[in-house]
Amino acid sequence: MSTTEYYNPPPPNNGGARAAAIIISMFILIIIGVVSCYCAKKMRKAIVSDLRAAVAPPLPLSVIQVWEVDAPTMERFFRELAEEKPVRFTAQQLCTFTENYKTILGCGGFGKVYKGQFPNGVKIAVKVLNRGPNCNIEEQFMAEVGTIGRTHHINLVRLYGFCYDQFLSALVYEFMDNGSLDKHLFSDTRELEWEKLHEIAVGTAKGIAYLHEECQQRIIHYDIKPGNVLLDVNFSPKVADFGLARLCNRDDTHVSVTGYRGTPGYAAPEFMLKNFPITFKCDVYSFGILLFEIVGRRKNTRPVGDDESLDWFPKKVWEEFEKGELLELTEACGIEEKDRAKAERMAMVALWCVQDSPTTRPPMSAVVKMLEGGVEIVPPPKPFHYLFSVGTNVLKPPTSGSGSGYTTSEGTDSYWYKETTTPIMAKYEITVASI
Ligand SMILES: Nc1ncnc2c1ncn2[C@@H]1O[C@H](COP(=O)(O)OP(=O)(O)OP(=O)(O)O)[C@@H](O)[C@H]1O
Ligand SMILES: [Mg+2]
Repeated sequence: MSTTEYYNPPPPNNGGARAAAIIISMFILIIIGVVSCYCAKKMRKAIVSDLRAAVAPPLPLSVIQVWEVDAPTMERFFRELAEEKPVRFTAQQLCTFTENYKTILGCGGFGKVYKGQFPNGVKIAVKVLNRGPNCNIEEQFMAEVGTIGRTHHINLVRLYGFCYDQFLSALVYEFMDNGSLDKHLFSDTRELEWEKLHEIAVGTAKGIAYLHEECQQRIIHYDIKPGNVLLDVNFSPKVADFGLARLCNRDDTHVSVTGYRGTPGYAAPEFMLKNFPITFKCDVYSFGILLFEIVGRRKNTRPVGDDESLDWFPKKVWEEFEKGELLELTEACGIEEKDRAKAERMAMVALWCVQDSPTTRPPMSAVVKMLEGGVEIVPPPKPFHYLFSVGTNVLKPPTSGSGSGYTTSEGTDSYWYKETTTPIMAKYEITVASI
């Protein structure tokens, strides 16, 4: 038999057999495709459920699984999961994360805060909310938590998740290594440089500006104070507890009269008047008080009923400003010469923020601009009339008719500041040139 015979092609009329072969191969291919799709789906499901367990292990035993999942995959999954919406945890999981609520970080108006850790090593702070009779029902709770959880900004503390069951409402936040600003601001060691404090003020203002002006639905904080400004490992500030006012009522230590929200000393004067509309400008007032505390490095909170106190630092700042001696005051506060111009600026911004009339207070985006420099701050009018007279008139804007003056837009002068034509560095450039 010759080789040519052996390799002869099939006769051209064998079309039926060829078609059958094609159909069979296609069928085999389809089966292979379906089987591999099914296997991939199953594997993906298994990985996802493994990862879910890794994020929220129901029992201590499951913790072991975490280390079986490779860390980067888990980390990515966790991030993606948390970016979508806050994760719901069970009470048992929170108990595991906090090692049975072993370490308490602090206690505030909403409840206690505990240190914890996800099984992947990410540190967390678990805020167990007081359950009062007025606490929100589950749907409301979920709706509010959903809003807080979707609010992301570099200067806002992240909400990773929550727990809501018959007995427990809790929020799971990112852990902030350096705790709250008050601990550093009012410590005798003064370990935070003034420059850093200025950065903290700007970052905090940006966080609040985001809540007020950039969120789909404006969020009023109601409780701006150094205790609610948390510092990360680099001492960068993040505003904490936003959205909580709508979530749950506070305990009695933070409530003095019906309808009063926030912390005494930081709360805007409009809270003391019945039926006066409360707007986002109440946060601007509280931020002003915080700025005074940064300048003076001391707590401004006055005992209730101590309105006449001569020693109230914000009032002193106004008096010195009126005399044109704000720089001297910053010197008396122990601020180094190189930082005094910035401190003077900060004090002026603070005086604007604490204006009696909410309308006269600048919006937070204007506050950011004024704090950052590069604009000339208009001299603020006298604040604190409310300390001496009672009634809604005190909280009305000083001059009506100039309503448009209260608005601000990028690149234009506003009621609170003027754009400078010369760059801010010009002063230094002239000094250098004249040496
Ligand atoms: N995410 C967090 N990371 C690290 N520490 C935290 C975190 N959240 C809160 N803390 C600590 O727990 C303390 C108590 O916080 P909490 O918010 O309960 O009280 P507060 O801020 O003093 O009062 P308020 O109820 O008015 O907010 C804070 O001072 C802070 O030191
Ligand atoms: Mg707080």
